[in-house]
Amino acid sequence: MNKETIISKMKSAFEKTIPSEIDHALNVLENAEIIMNGEGIIGRESYLISVIAILHDIGMINAKVKYGSTSGPYQEKEGPAAAKEILVGECLSDDEMERICYIIGNHHTPSKIDGVDFQIIWEADLLEALKKFDKEASQEKLKNTIEKNYKTKSGIDLAKKILIMN
Ligand SMILES: [Fe+2]
Repeated sequence: MNKETIISKMKSAFEKTIPSEIDHALNVLENAEIIMNGEGIIGRESYLISVIAILHDIGMINAKVKYGSTSGPYQEKEGPAAAKEILVGECLSDDEMERICYIIGNHHTPSKIDGVDFQIIWEADLLEALKKFDKEASQEKLKNTIEKNYKTKSGIDLAKKILIMN
């Protein structure tokens, strides 16, 4: 299964339930790809991070159905099983699947970040949340948030380029 197939499975999963999440997932993927390019992450590692970016919020669907809430903890709880279902038939090793599920299952919990793959997902996803801030009124807050949360050079550069006014 290639990335495009996973994207189309993600799209059809969200279409009937939370269609607004499709664009979010694609934006997070785009951010992650920019950061990976800048960091020189290629090949299998890049593929796996892309898969996580595409599916990181997939738990929202069952969270909404089961609990009537898409809040972070429910998403994290429901995400790994939903991702596994989509990735059935994908040639992933047990370790790779475990890593994908770990990151999806903890992606709202920064204290669980334990590697550059998880860090890139965190940075790519957070950027979408920060884009919603009133840019002009929030410069100080945005600067502090970038300082606290962004660790990769390419993530810092991307966040500053998009969020910080000179
Ligand atoms: Fe997200």
